[in-house]
Amino acid sequence: MTEQYDTVGSTYEQYKTKATLPIVENFTFFNILSNFQEKTILDLACGTGFYTRLLKKRGAGKVIGVDISEEMIGVARQEEHKEPLGIEYQAFDVGKLPKVGKFDLVTAIYLLNYAENKEYLLKMFQKIRNNLVENGRLVAMTINPHFCVSKSNCSKYGLTVLKEETLSEGYYCEAEFNTDPPFVIKYFRWSQFIYEWAATEAGFKKVTWHSIEIPPQAIEQYTEDYWRDFLENSLIVGLSCQN
Ligand SMILES: C[S@@+](CC[C@H](N)C(=O)[O-])C[C@H]1O[C@@H](n2cnc3c(N)ncnc32)[C@H](O)[C@@H]1O
Repeated sequence: MTEQYDTVGSTYEQYKTKATLPIVENFTFFNILSNFQEKTILDLACGTGFYTRLLKKRGAGKVIGVDISEEMIGVARQEEHKEPLGIEYQAFDVGKLPKVGKFDLVTAIYLLNYAENKEYLLKMFQKIRNNLVENGRLVAMTINPHFCVSKSNCSKYGLTVLKEETLSEGYYCEAEFNTDPPFVIKYFRWSQFIYEWAATEAGFKKVTWHSIEIPPQAIEQYTEDYWRDFLENSLIVGLSCQN
């Protein structure tokens, strides 16, 4: 599962810029993050560096991007080469991440949903905490523990959930990105309890869940009706943890 993005690289960027789910993800993420000007940020599961670049361009201090996939890191480095922003990219599995530094913020947009079991989820939270300053904060986007595929799917927003298999603490899932060509990814939808257990076990003091928010321009452009399913049954959710 950890190498599944190795063959995806630039097709993933296509999804990021053409599908509508990322509009909501982006708006929600930056609202949760709120003030990050001049702050040092470690962007985990940075992929091709989509958010890593945005964070830097919007005023963050030093930013480092980390991803397990050499292919994704390769695309991110090419982008840095084309338009130098001073971002450093490193290839690591977050479950084995050393201390890269002490950051004000750790961001993790779709990292935690790749932990294959609760022990690995705990490891990820521990490594994250190990890279934060005393009052540091983790801001993550992940798969909503309460998403219900039988209620509505996500196809019109850019990806289709193909299957969900019950595990003891959540679900093993597969979804297809509606890109050209399409690609399938495997991930986990862990329970709220397991996330909160892992975060507090790792030493985080406060765990907060954040519902998705639709930007007003996107409601105007696509209509309220278009977003209804997503608002009522969102595949994604925000999670922040205070050190
Ligand atoms: C859906 S992409 C998100 C990329 C980026 N955060 C974004 O939103 O554009 C998920 C990324 O998580 C990475 N990933 C999965 N498991 C990981 C792990 N254990 N450590 C680091 N990165 C991981 C994948 O390689 C992939 O690039």
